[in-house]
Amino acid sequence: MTTVPKLPESPVSGQMLTLERQKLFEWVYTTEPSVVIETGGGSEGGGSTFCIVEALRKLKEEGKCMDSVFHTCDVNNYSARNFYLFHPDYKDFINFFTGTSENFISQLLANDTIPDFIFFDGPEDPTLNLNDFLKLDAVVKSGCKFAMHDWETVPRIFDGGLSIKAKEVRPYLENLETWTIEEQLSGLGDEWPNEQEPQSVGLVYSRKL
Ligand SMILES: C[S@@+](CC[C@H](N)C(=O)[O-])C[C@H]1O[C@@H](n2cnc3c(N)ncnc32)[C@H](O)[C@@H]1O
Repeated sequence: MTTVPKLPESPVSGQMLTLERQKLFEWVYTTEPSVVIETGGGSEGGGSTFCIVEALRKLKEEGKCMDSVFHTCDVNNYSARNFYLFHPDYKDFINFFTGTSENFISQLLANDTIPDFIFFDGPEDPTLNLNDFLKLDAVVKSGCKFAMHDWETVPRIFDGGLSIKAKEVRPYLENLETWTIEEQLSGLGDEWPNEQEPQSVGLVYSRKL
């Protein structure tokens, strides 16, 4: 079994709870992907973006995934660009797209860039997220991973908040026979990992069969 390193503290700010960050880092690290894409990286990139780049940086340090690349998008990521594109540890394998996830995915597909690890944390627009997923699902291969934050669609325990981000893609994916859920952090009170204290607002990790 692979020993997963611990994700270091992010030097820039971002969202995602501590356990969620470690999990996303772990999933990328153990997948050893070639092409990772992210929608909704955040303005500074210290949350999910950091988890993903750190996993790839660590893999490269170990001589793995030497040619792997990471494409991230957000409608506002100027600050993140300034941090990562000048950082010696990350600048060689991270690409930024500033704009909507819809345009980002269209551009990737037009360039025949097919991901094998997808992470969604973009807009609170359930239909847009479903459409983005459908476009990618049409081209990704068996073994591709899909992770999404704010997976919980009823009021969650951590902050009482309600996200509609996954309201369409979640039931769609859960009913597909072509994807399987590998792991899931609940946003609810009586489910793992929230039995003792809320540690997630919902985070899913799935694999295309
Ligand atoms: C919950 S935040 C992302 C947090 C980030 N993943 C982190 O861990 O720090 C959602 C992000 O989606 C971005 N966003 C909103 N509409 C978008 C769209 N149409 N396409 C891509 N990103 C969008 C917002 O600018 C915001 O940064």
